[in-house]
Amino acid sequence: MKLLVTGSGGREHALVRKLLQNNEVELVYCAPGNGGTASEKGCENVDLSDPQALADFAAVNSVDMALPGSEDMLVAGIADRFKEKGIPVLGPHRAAALLEGSKCMAKDFMKKYGIRTAAYENFTSYDDARSYLETASFPIVLKADGLAAGKGVLICADRSEAMTALDTLMSDRAFGDAGDSIVIEEYLTGVEASILSFYDGKTIMPLLSAKDHKKILEGETGPNTGGMGVVSPNPHVDNEVMSLFQKEILEPTCIGLETEGLNFSGVIFFGLMINDKGVYLLEYNLRMGDPETQAVLSLLDSDLLELIRAALDGKLDRAKVKWKTGSSCCVVMASGGYPGSYEKGKLINGIESCSADVFVAGASLKDGVLYTSGGRVLNVVATGDDLEEARRNCYADVAKISFEKAVYRKDIGGPVLD
Ligand code: AMP
Ligand code: GLY
Repeated sequence: MKLLVTGSGGREHALVRKLLQNNEVELVYCAPGNGGTASEKGCENVDLSDPQALADFAAVNSVDMALPGSEDMLVAGIADRFKEKGIPVLGPHRAAALLEGSKCMAKDFMKKYGIRTAAYENFTSYDDARSYLETASFPIVLKADGLAAGKGVLICADRSEAMTALDTLMSDRAFGDAGDSIVIEEYLTGVEASILSFYDGKTIMPLLSAKDHKKILEGETGPNTGGMGVVSPNPHVDNEVMSLFQKEILEPTCIGLETEGLNFSGVIFFGLMINDKGVYLLEYNLRMGDPETQAVLSLLDSDLLELIRAALDGKLDRAKVKWKTGSSCCVVMASGGYPGSYEKGKLINGIESCSADVFVAGASLKDGVLYTSGGRVLNVVATGDDLEEARRNCYADVAKISFEKAVYRKDIGGPVLD
């Protein structure tokens, strides 16, 4: 069978490699892909990014299944375009993708279905938001309603910061239309967890939990990034957290999706905050996380394609998923300067001597050799009998890889897990 994966990061490289482990898969197209997907035997990069062009390509090339990666494509309705062509697609239609694409809609959905989340108000008027902030307590969180490449969440320590954030979102329109509506919500403390799951329209099947490390510097300091590393399972997600998550978040989400007619076959990624009051849902993403996917898939002992088929065929209630014991650790190697400006075109050495999985996030292939082409360049993913061993294995391989001005955090999965 032929598959089409869309996207160009480490998540897509990991998906492609995992899918190719199934002998039924004869070819995976990756659009646009990267230097890593280009080096996988059985994968062909396709230089397309427009949803309609991708659906047309899939139809002409007899693609059996489409796996769209990024939120902007899903919100633009890429799943609807594949469906119009009769191609099974693992991803929400546009209406459901808005649970990620509109934070106001997501919060109203959570409130309506009693899903535990931070207290909030939605605003479309600058003046109303300003009056609300006059009497609010701080810290407080302001969020642009629409997609803002992960930058639309502003955590404000006091009233003056909140007023500045409000101006940034609604007067200066730093994120354009995305800030025309905003959420103002209660600031929660605690530890974060990511839980990816498959959804078939009736059943949500959670995968292993994961812990993202979003800041560029050790000790969770410095600016936010797309993610500098992940461990799985998340050491903070014990049985008690999991059962609170099931009862207060997963089950009401399932009921809400069905009641609102928002059912789809795809992925739901729950962004959680855990504290001594319970487990809170910060956000839904309607796609795989990056780099969570790389760490979680490395522990999957079942066939990924079989799980995807179960999600597409409405059979997740009967699906059995097997996990390897132990833990995984994913360290992101980035270009010096990221998440600000950085240089590209640096030769990458040493991947061939690694025993861990090395996925390409931002590198291109020239004459069979990889050169850096992005901020996040490589994801090194290792497993071990426990988290300590997974970390040791991972960092042993990170040390074998070099490119000019490479940077990475040395504390992924370390003592500072908050
Ligand atoms: P979101 O896109 O809503 O997940 O927000 C991005 C990040 O902002 C989260 O991963 C948290 O680190 C932080 N964040 C979002 N909402 C809150 C909140 N209510 N309290 C504290 N931190 C938050
Ligand atoms: N790692 C967080 C995300 O994929 O949004």
